[in-house]
Amino acid sequence: MDRGCGRGPRLTAGASLAKLRRITQKTQLMSANSLFDITGKVIVITGATGALTGSAAAYLAANQAKVVYLGRSQEKLDATLAGVRGQVPGAEVIGVAADVNDREALERARDTILAKWGRIDALLNGAGGNQPGATIAPDKTFMDLDFEAFQAVVDLNLHGTVLPTLVFTPALMEAGSASIVNYSSASASRAITRVVGYSAAKAAVENFTRWLAVDLGRRTSGGVRVNALVPGFFLGEQNRRLLTNEDGSLTPRGESIVRQTPFGRFGQAEELHGAVHYLVADASKFVTGTTVTVDGGFGVFSGV
Ligand SMILES: NC(=O)c1ccc[n+]([C@@H]2O[C@H](COP(=O)([O-])OP(=O)(O)OC[C@H]3O[C@@H](n4cnc5c(N)ncnc54)[C@H](OP(=O)(O)O)[C@@H]3O)[C@@H](O)[C@H]2O)c1
Repeated sequence: MDRGCGRGPRLTAGASLAKLRRITQKTQLMSANSLFDITGKVIVITGATGALTGSAAAYLAANQAKVVYLGRSQEKLDATLAGVRGQVPGAEVIGVAADVNDREALERARDTILAKWGRIDALLNGAGGNQPGATIAPDKTFMDLDFEAFQAVVDLNLHGTVLPTLVFTPALMEAGSASIVNYSSASASRAITRVVGYSAAKAAVENFTRWLAVDLGRRTSGGVRVNALVPGFFLGEQNRRLLTNEDGSLTPRGESIVRQTPFGRFGQAEELHGAVHYLVADASKFVTGTTVTVDGGFGVFSGV
């Protein structure tokens, strides 16, 4: 006997087959194809020339989305787009140069996108990263923190998420069923030695994700959802020197991470594609304010 207290239909022992049939008929059965269909969705990705973001952008383009690559350098964007067009013939992709901390450049980018494609269905806030001064070197203490570097890391990761969101949200609200995906990190919820500025900024990104999810959820009755993607450890340009030696072997820190990851390895960029796809597609239509973690179990392992 079902003692559930939700609003769903209660199936008691006495429920007749006819009643069950009526319930089943009422349920809209959508095929996986329509739940995950992103054909023609206009998806903007900041920091799209990056390792993880670039890989996700190419995946979305390969799945018939119209993808806007945002980065600071037009040269880097052009080179990235040439690569994507080679990989995905007929890909609908454009590159727009904009710094995520430059409001006017973001507004120009938004206008360019709306003039070309007339709508914006998703914003992936992928621009982010760390810098040496905001990290405490092994022979230093917190008192040696370079505060300007700390501020620069907060500027890029937190303000560089809030500002594009501010600029693009009106267009997302117009779209009707839109999605914002903020890139967080495993360091947002657990203390990772040395990484002080980046961790604080990503923790704030997760908090902002929850706050905005509630605000936009209520304002748009679910028209714009806001979630965070939490990649674990993926080998990229920003952490390669920290985690691997020149010969490709692991540094002691790299070894420690792999030991604390139940899957026993770093992630591969393409292992984030499924989560990104889910968050931008209608499959996540009732999902907001949450974090989707892709980390091989790092975040739940106590180390024992
Ligand atoms: N890699 C990992 O293991 C890992 C783990 C957890 C979370 N993350 C997060 O996931 C996201 C993507 O990571 P990733 O590895 O793809 O990063 P990445 O390879 O370091 O690339 C980041 C991109 O951000 C762009 N960028 C930097 N500052 C910018 C600014 N002010 N305005 C606009 N774009 C800017 C850069 O492009 P331009 O130089 O062309 O501007 C760069 O290509 C980041 O938020 C990162 O913090 C990464």
